[in-house]
Amino acid sequence: MPKPYIPNDKWSQRAAKEGYRARSVFKLMELDERFHLIEPGMRILDLGAAPGSWLQYTSKKIFDGHALGLDLQEIAKIAPNVTTRVCDILNPVKVGEELNALGWKDVDLVLSDLAPNTSGIKDIDQWRSVELCEAVLTLAQRYLKRRGTVVMKIFRGRDFDAFIQRVRVHFPVLKIVTVKASRDRSREVYVVCSR
Ligand SMILES: C[S@@+](CC[C@H](N)C(=O)[O-])C[C@H]1O[C@@H](n2cnc3c(N)ncnc32)[C@H](O)[C@@H]1O
Repeated sequence: MPKPYIPNDKWSQRAAKEGYRARSVFKLMELDERFHLIEPGMRILDLGAAPGSWLQYTSKKIFDGHALGLDLQEIAKIAPNVTTRVCDILNPVKVGEELNALGWKDVDLVLSDLAPNTSGIKDIDQWRSVELCEAVLTLAQRYLKRRGTVVMKIFRGRDFDAFIQRVRVHFPVLKIVTVKASRDRSREVYVVCSR
C-alpha cells in the first residue's frame, strides 16, 4: 500500500493540519496581520492562485465580498464567494474578460504570489519573476481602486532595484517585506504598495 504523503517541513505540516492547500498561506497571514489587507466586503484579485491556500484564507475574511483567483493551473472549488479560472495573467485581454464576467470594473486588493517555472539559472529565474510582476503592475494600474493595495512576490536579483523604482512611480507608498514562512535562503520578498 502506498505510504500517505507526510510533509517534512513545519509550515507544510501546519498547513496540512489546518486544512490549507499550501504552506504559502502563512505568508499571506503574516502580511495580513502586519498590513490589515483583507476586510469584509472586498473584491480581491488573486494572481497565481493555485492550489488555492490564499483563496481559502481570504474567503473566510471577506464574507459577502468576492475573490477571483487566476492561474495557469485549475483550482479545485473553494467556496461560494470565490471564483477561479484558468488564465495566463500575461494575457491582459483574457484577465479583463474574467473581470468583466463578474461585472467588475475595479478591485480593492490585488494579490500576487506568482512564481515562474524555475530553470535553476539565477538571472533567468529572477528576470521571469520581474516579467510576471510587470504584468501585475500593469493590471493593478488598470483595475485597482484609488485607495487599493497591491501585494506581489518578487525574487531579489539584478533587475530588482530598477523594478522597484518603476513601481514607486505609480504606487509611492511602498514596503519590501520578508516573511517567516519563506524557505531559508529564498530570495523572495513581498512588495506591499498603494497610491
Ligand atoms: C507559489 S504558487 C501560488 C500559491 C498560492 N498563493 C496558494 O496559496 O495556493 C505560484 C503560482 O503561479 C502560477 N503562475 C506562474 N505563471 C503564471 C502565469 N503566467 N499566469 C497565471 N499563473 C501563473 C503557477 O502556476 C503557480 O500555481
